Amino acid sequence: MLLELKDIQKKFGGVTALRSGNLSVKAGEVHLLMGENGAGKSTMMKIVAGMYQPDGGEIRWNGHRVQFANPAQAAEAGIAMVHQESLLFPHLTVAENIYLGRTGGMVVHRRQMLDKARKLIEDQRFPLQADWPVSKLSPAGKQMVEICRAVSLGSSLLIFDEPTSSLSESETREVFRIVKNLRDRGMGVIYITHRLEELRTIGDHVTVLRDGATVHSSPLAELDTQGLIRHMVGREVNALYSRTPVPPGEPLLVIENLNRNPLLQNINLTVRAGEIVGMAGLVGAGRTELCRAIFGVDEPDSGVISVDGKPVKAKHPREAVQAGVALITEDRQKTGLATLLPIACNVTMANLDCISSYGALDLQREKAMTSEYQAKLRIKMNGPAQLAGRLSGGNQQKVVISKWLATGAKVFLFDEPTRGIDVGAKVEVFQVMDELARNGAAILMVSSELPEIQQVADRIVVMRQGKISGELPGGASQEDIMHLAVFETESGRLPGEDEGTVQ
Ligand SMILES: Nc1ncnc2c1ncn2[C@@H]1O[C@H](COP(=O)(O)OP(=O)(O)OP(=O)(O)O)[C@@H](O)[C@H]1O
Ligand SMILES: [Mg+2]
Repeated sequence: MLLELKDIQKKFGGVTALRSGNLSVKAGEVHLLMGENGAGKSTMMKIVAGMYQPDGGEIRWNGHRVQFANPAQAAEAGIAMVHQESLLFPHLTVAENIYLGRTGGMVVHRRQMLDKARKLIEDQRFPLQADWPVSKLSPAGKQMVEICRAVSLGSSLLIFDEPTSSLSESETREVFRIVKNLRDRGMGVIYITHRLEELRTIGDHVTVLRDGATVHSSPLAELDTQGLIRHMVGREVNALYSRTPVPPGEPLLVIENLNRNPLLQNINLTVRAGEIVGMAGLVGAGRTELCRAIFGVDEPDSGVISVDGKPVKAKHPREAVQAGVALITEDRQKTGLATLLPIACNVTMANLDCISSYGALDLQREKAMTSEYQAKLRIKMNGPAQLAGRLSGGNQQKVVISKWLATGAKVFLFDEPTRGIDVGAKVEVFQVMDELARNGAAILMVSSELPEIQQVADRIVVMRQGKISGELPGGASQEDIMHLAVFETESGRLPGEDEGTVQ
């Protein structure tokens, strides 16, 4: 065995993140690590990578008992982790990021470093240039740099924590190719994902964590998807959600001739009370830009946005919020969540009016609201005073959703709302949307996952290169949606400079 974890335990203050983590990874396999939000996956991997110290249990590396006091020691032993929130230096080049902080005088000259990096990139067949600044790369490009760094360090185990959750289709395929290539060359790979549809393409073996303990481990072929879900959640779940459409009411969101060069071109769109409109398209088609324009983050060049019959000239999100618009963003770390504030503050921050009386905050009410949403969305947390940044990824996303539910908005923009959220929780998020719509809200949901759009949307609007390329009824086939979404010249793009993420 390359890596063996036996009965690993880890507590953070009073919270038990891991009760009994067990895992055995061989060289030359892709080992999936699955589990619900908050099950302890990231914690276990951070222990392996030397970022956290376990409270109990044993780590064996190539048969020997080891203890990594810090990430440098784990890296030295041959363990590398590709982080979801990139730890690269954006203003340095690809080559500098690969060789940064090496000791032993290995790389002295810029020229030598560039040549070495070029060779490495060529060996991996990555669409990168050694002298590009990392800030210009898409998320997939950044992952490739981290992979190069791991390979150049001679790592024999590579850990990916939800690598594809912010990638486009073509980037995801590229990451799969790379992962398989590393495996075929004898590296061990640990791979965390919530995307059930990608498991079979990539995995060889699977280990499932539930509430901090390993509950299953087997070759992937021996476990069907229902069985996997059962192990993850510990009960039967109905992964199928069904929407109860209501007759649409008044138009609540009306967009007329909206332009913002180059990503929004003559957009016309109406969402009525009670409707859930799904918005499909490739990453970079302009969907996020549209949400930002409606929410007053980016000012449009021309056009009119009306909310509930009144034109809104939102130059700032504050004005959009006042007009009754909520934006649940895809990037919770950057725009959705105040990680250093308690959960309760995050839930109520967009609507302080409702918890204050005569200018003072009613903390009891704040607590009550937090508990209400905790129950509704099943947020796994210690208590309202816990810092939001300490929650697991998926539970952070649920807090962001709660924050906007608490504002009582009329128009909800959900931009990739289920990113990083586990199977059971996805259904809960959809149920919340359904309930909002039935209570008269207008919902626009951007999603890159077609099955999700098919399931949830009453109507599907597709964007391509900044324009609305067509509209389809809810439940339209994936082929029809893709047909409207795909660039005519898709083959011309490189994953490293994918779809508009390059400035
Ligand atoms: N630094 C920390 N301080 C306090 N609690 C923490 C810390 N890191 C994790 N936790 C808690 O430990 C538990 C496990 O979290 P972890 O991030 O490992 O879950 P996960 O399986 O990776 O979930 P997700 O799928 O949502 O990313 C959670 O309850 C989380 O709140
Ligand atoms: Mg995690």
